[in-house]
Amino acid sequence: MEPSSAQNCILKRQVFYLIVLSLAVLVYMDEDYYSLLSVSRASSTREIRQAFKKLALKLHPDKNKNDPDAHDKFLKINRAYEVLKDDDLRKKYDKYGEKGLEDQQQQGGRYESWHYYRYDFGIYDDDPEVITLDRGEFDGAINSGELWFINFYSPRCSHCHDLAPTWREFAKEMDGLIRVGAVNCGDDRMLCRSRGINSYPSLYIFKAGISPVKYFGDRVTNNLVNFAMNYVTSSVTELWAGNFRSSIENSFASGVGWLITFCADSEDCLSSQTRLKLAGMLDGLVSVGWMDCSIQADLCENLEISSSTTAYFPPGVALANKHKDVLFFSSLDAKDIYMEMMEHLPDLEMLSPDSLKDRLIYHRWLVFFSYGIDEQFYQPEFKKLPNLLRGDDVQVGRFDCQSSPSTCKSFYIKKPSVIAFKGKGIDYYEIHHGKVNLYDLVAFTKESVNSHVVTLGPENFPENDSQPWLVDFFAPWCPPCKALLPELRKASKRVFSHVRFGTLDCTIHEGLCNMHNIRAYPTTVIFNQSNIHEYGGHHTAEEILEFIEDLRHPSVVTLTQANFKELVKERSRDEIWVVDYYAPWCGPCQALMPEWKRMARHVSGLINVGSVDCQKYSSLCSKEYVNSYPEIRLYPANRDNPNYYIAYSGWQRDAYSLKTWALSYLPQLTASLTPETIDEKVLSGKDHWLIDFYAPWCGPCRSFAPEFEVVARHLKGKVKTGKVDCEAFGHICQRAGIRGYPTVKFYPYEGSKRRNIEGELVNSRDANDIVKMVTARVGFITSQLKAHQKDEL
Ligand SMILES: *[C@@H]1O[C@H](CO)[C@@H](O)[C@H](O)[C@H]1NC(C)=O
Ligand SMILES: *[C@@H]1O[C@H](CO)[C@@H](O)[C@H](O)[C@H]1NC(C)=O
Repeated sequence: MEPSSAQNCILKRQVFYLIVLSLAVLVYMDEDYYSLLSVSRASSTREIRQAFKKLALKLHPDKNKNDPDAHDKFLKINRAYEVLKDDDLRKKYDKYGEKGLEDQQQQGGRYESWHYYRYDFGIYDDDPEVITLDRGEFDGAINSGELWFINFYSPRCSHCHDLAPTWREFAKEMDGLIRVGAVNCGDDRMLCRSRGINSYPSLYIFKAGISPVKYFGDRVTNNLVNFAMNYVTSSVTELWAGNFRSSIENSFASGVGWLITFCADSEDCLSSQTRLKLAGMLDGLVSVGWMDCSIQADLCENLEISSSTTAYFPPGVALANKHKDVLFFSSLDAKDIYMEMMEHLPDLEMLSPDSLKDRLIYHRWLVFFSYGIDEQFYQPEFKKLPNLLRGDDVQVGRFDCQSSPSTCKSFYIKKPSVIAFKGKGIDYYEIHHGKVNLYDLVAFTKESVNSHVVTLGPENFPENDSQPWLVDFFAPWCPPCKALLPELRKASKRVFSHVRFGTLDCTIHEGLCNMHNIRAYPTTVIFNQSNIHEYGGHHTAEEILEFIEDLRHPSVVTLTQANFKELVKERSRDEIWVVDYYAPWCGPCQALMPEWKRMARHVSGLINVGSVDCQKYSSLCSKEYVNSYPEIRLYPANRDNPNYYIAYSGWQRDAYSLKTWALSYLPQLTASLTPETIDEKVLSGKDHWLIDFYAPWCGPCRSFAPEFEVVARHLKGKVKTGKVDCEAFGHICQRAGIRGYPTVKFYPYEGSKRRNIEGELVNSRDANDIVKMVTARVGFITSQLKAHQKDEL
């Protein structure tokens, strides 16, 4: 956590002055960030970066040495860029303007040299063949079933710049066969870290069904091509008299034609690598083979082939029919032949207005809805879709909105759109909002049909549904909205039985969004009959699930004027309470909330956790002398003065620090042991013992002590717990073989024999793990003892 999160919100009077002050500042700073960078609110992060780069090169103080204002001007655009390129900050800015950024540490106060913006700023942003993937696109892309070769680079590394021309050339060479990508680790640090990238450039192959493979060879085009070709597993069949007829017939029977290269003497025919490339590019669509006419002279003569050539035999064509319907290619280049071949293959199935509903109700479909021939929707590559989606049982088709405008209106589409129908009724669909390209469509379809997110409209808007619904109010142009969609799909699979998921496009359903007072995108709201909860956390599936879990089983008790006294002040002697006094408008309080809930789940059963909304219950808070937000107080056990509390003064307000702090106030169950008590009770007694060996000066020991108290509570009655100060009793620790602090050892009672001081090492510092391990061990020993007793009887 950043130190800034520990700032407190000052009480109202001071806040008032602050607001007056910041209004004054706003008057001078009201230049909108988007207009500063000359981009629209709909711009993607990449477009924002490109726009900023252009401005940066022009306005940089290094290039404007005579302008005394150059530094300030540059700071302004730099600040705008720093905010808009960050999904979270951009959303805050969209929602509250600059005021929403006050809690942040000042962004954009530093900047780089002109040289940096010129040379070190997104190497492949403008390349058509190299696909720059960001955090929101990465998983979908590598899971689309296509073969990817990805260059993880940092704009600051000189080897990365050295590689760039080669990587571009390689991408051109492999275009159509594999996807060549790039990830800018300067921008997407988390993505690179989570992928274990620790040097730049790192080149990795991603292929479905195998783990990523790193490339270690020389970074020259030929070696890269040879390496990548190893992962193209399509095959080229050598055809001869013995297999020709059966191969052709088998393939034709399943509706697949043959592309055959005939090699005659002394003439050029396709090289074996070109043939393999073609097989890869056309995988599943066309069988690829070759024939050596100098050996198979009769066969070639029968087919009336007299020189080297490449020909496509569509399924069902009569071979002896003098080349009727056979397509010949004169090029020797894989890409040329591939393009011509793709044009020639039949297009996707056209659905008619009459058949549409019947067919979409029970089966999964991906349908292109278009208005006449729209080039973007008729990319030849899309003919690969049925093949790539067959595994998920999805059929692919087209629908012409001009033939039946009312059908398209019923889906609220006004422009060409792609929709995935999930095979569970005509209302059960999701509209695609990503890029219209092959891998994005495949990734979207696979995720969508296997998840439970549906596109909502006025007819099926679930505000008054008896089931809880999560509704994502979004705009298709907003980048964080796009990044959220895959996370929603992920989350929906896990909690479908408790919560349903829908998305509402506010650019189409403005009225509904206004009715719910939506001011920023995305806004995620859970409707549970009359209860409405807005989600304010990060846009990851895990955090969304945590939020839902907390709604279903709240871990924090809502304290009010009515219950505060009874629950907290009149608590029983063994109860501890920790209470968060907060105000809903205070930024640090909002940041604390998810951490507070997480902490509460960790200490559940040991410590009571509550929160007081001081805006709602202001007289309660003033009676308790709460004077800044958030105020965290712990009301300990065994106190005669019910008003006594300990305030949290720690700098960090994350769940872990709060938990460690709160647990340290648990009454100790762990006994302090001496050499005498160890000898008498641990080594000779009739109890199982678990011991924490520590040193008073060791930091990790101090954080572990409360965790060990948790263990003590869970094992109470079954296993005794103790601790040994290794500074005071060094020789005992030495004899026990302690090499580091803290160390946990277990001394089971296994019958009358005296135990060894070395004990059994418990190799974990996690309370749950330790409890699990020790409980299992105790169970085993007990069953052994019982068996032993039986034997003796
Ligand atoms: C839900 O119910 C409320 C109150 O009964 C009503 O005002 C509102 O219009 C309903 N919303 C929808 C979408 O039907
Ligand atoms: C919805 O409300 C019901 C009844 O109040 C509650 O039992 C359930 O846990 C709630 N679900 C969610 C996801 O909030």
